[in-house]
Amino acid sequence: PLKTIAMAAFAVGAMATSFIAAAEPVEIKFSHVVAENTPKGQAALKFKALVEERLPGEYTVSVFPNSQLFGDNNELAALLLNDVQFVAPSLSKFERYTKRLQLFDLPFLFKDMDAVEKFQTSDAGQSLLSSMKRKGIEGMGYLHNGMKQFSANDPMTLPKDASGKKFRVMASDVLAAQFDTLQATAVKKPFSEVFTLLQTRAIDGQENTWSNIYSKKFYEVQSYITESNHGVLDYMVVTSSAFWKGLPADKRKVIKQCLDEAIAFGNKLAADKNAEDRQLIVDSGVTKVVELSDSERQAWIDAMKPVWKQFEDQIGKDMIDAAVAANK
Ligand code: LMR
Repeated sequence: PLKTIAMAAFAVGAMATSFIAAAEPVEIKFSHVVAENTPKGQAALKFKALVEERLPGEYTVSVFPNSQLFGDNNELAALLLNDVQFVAPSLSKFERYTKRLQLFDLPFLFKDMDAVEKFQTSDAGQSLLSSMKRKGIEGMGYLHNGMKQFSANDPMTLPKDASGKKFRVMASDVLAAQFDTLQATAVKKPFSEVFTLLQTRAIDGQENTWSNIYSKKFYEVQSYITESNHGVLDYMVVTSSAFWKGLPADKRKVIKQCLDEAIAFGNKLAADKNAEDRQLIVDSGVTKVVELSDSERQAWIDAMKPVWKQFEDQIGKDMIDAAVAANK
């Protein structure tokens, strides 16, 4: 009987072990390059909270901010290797996978974030979510940050003020071309290196949203920010087709719903966050915000607009027209 009891105990133990093993939640990794106190950082945390609330014990979401796990140079490759399941690079960072998204980098394409939203929710905008399907990348949705501003160590009110200076840009040929038109030099560098490049004066300036300029302290190492609103910095939340298709259909549905809600949450936050961070920068007194008159702004438009023609064939005239129509 002792043997029987021992065997029974062993069986129960083995069952318990296998039960525990089966109950181990699946870890979903979400990696990004910005601070937590940003629209993207907050959306990622919202996604984590929603998934863990609705699929308790089944899925956990680990969020890695600040290029901690993967940065600009490797996050999409890591996604395709299933080393991370969700990333949300800026729309400027997909060039290796599609040229269609270069649309968003055209300077002065959208007059404000309402126009960006209107275009992204239109049929044309939605069709771009699947522009990388053939490469195994699924667009889950657009996430807002906001409009970009120029920062530099000298005041810039007219395009000639940028001439001869060196600016960091995201890895986008359109953004590089934009600085070419200003007779400036563009250097493509990952987001994680920008602060040091500015601090050591390896570069003179950069372009970014108020939220990124504030949360990464760029304003502390830049004397001037020109409120140019010359382009948009938004994101596409993406996953890999392999991971996505591999999920059980019912779980996929819940996870998509969580993601949609997290994106909506981030999008709602974005405008306030940028306005708030702009004010914090002004209040810091460290950096001077240069506001442009209508004619000064027009001079920047005139200087940079030729970039549109340069990329028209790659992007598609139809897409450019659809984006312009969203300004109405
Ligand atoms: C940048 O590289 O400047 C931005 O794309 C960073 C980000 O993700 O907002």
